[in-house]
Amino acid sequence: MLDGKKTLFSGMQATGTITLGNYLGALKNWLDLDKEYECFYSVVDLHSITVRQDPAELRKRARNLLMLYLAAGLDPEKNCIYYQSHVSAHAELGWILNCFTYMGELNRMTQFKDKAAKHADNINAGLYTYPVLMAADILLFQSDVVPVGADQKQHLEITRDIANRFNAIYGDVFTIPEPYIGKQGAKIMSLQDPTKKMSKSDENPNASIILLDDTDTIIRKFKRAVTDSEAIVRYSDDKPGISNLMTIYSTMTGKTYEEIEREFDGKGYGDFKLAVGEVVANGLKPIQDRFYELSKDKAYVDGIIKNNAEKANYYARKTLRKVQKKVGFPEMPR
Ligand code: TRP
Repeated sequence: MLDGKKTLFSGMQATGTITLGNYLGALKNWLDLDKEYECFYSVVDLHSITVRQDPAELRKRARNLLMLYLAAGLDPEKNCIYYQSHVSAHAELGWILNCFTYMGELNRMTQFKDKAAKHADNINAGLYTYPVLMAADILLFQSDVVPVGADQKQHLEITRDIANRFNAIYGDVFTIPEPYIGKQGAKIMSLQDPTKKMSKSDENPNASIILLDDTDTIIRKFKRAVTDSEAIVRYSDDKPGISNLMTIYSTMTGKTYEEIEREFDGKGYGDFKLAVGEVVANGLKPIQDRFYELSKDKAYVDGIIKNNAEKANYYARKTLRKVQKKVGFPEMPR
């Protein structure tokens, strides 16, 4: 809770360009959350360096991500979109919270185990304490709600444990965050393996629609989407490919599954795939146009980055100062 308004916090990693799955599953649903919440969306570059990054690539992807959020329609006056590395309180609170987190707790984090296995040559301490930094992100803004996917649930749990532990010692310092359970976005699956979630890190480029894919690419990827041999557009658990395309079509057009089944009654998958491709390409076009406009307007984007970093800093410093006092750090003499 900040200044009487409930707070929502989310962090995004700039590892690859966001997909149609990220857009329909999350971003699109965030556009009107600013009415109810004070919203913070941080490009979490401190988290990104827990795995080795090419500096120029990281810089570019992070800025593109930030511009895509703007292009998708998040109003930067009402949503604080900023780089984590511009707000040093993240690292400072992260350190303090490290001292309130047990190795036993971190040892249980399944994402650490997965990532350690994937990056066996670089199992660094940052990767290990990643959940503590994430706790700091959330607690710095006294966040009430955090929209998290299944893969981040455990990290939100440990955040609550750390916050409760700290509060038990020092009094009510932190708001205890809850998972955001408002309107959920659609779960979009891979176009090549519809039993798997669409992911920006998929090795097969045909599996995901990247938000910046051009019309031809989008249509080509939908044409190649894996389906079944029934040749009837029908929503069913045993037709994951067609059902996924129907979810996409439905989310983009607002049509129900029954309406879609009627619309494509007697038509083949070829017609349907083309229609899905066109609807997606047309739907993403305005976002892409806006993105390329923003790419050319460096001064405007820089202004947003600066103003929002200042806003984030203001709130973050407030919480950090409170925590520093509680643990016994002295005020800087004036
Ligand atoms: N760990 C999250 C992810 O990989 C990103 C993240 C960092 C985050 N800090 C956060 C998400 C705080 C929610 C809240 O997706």
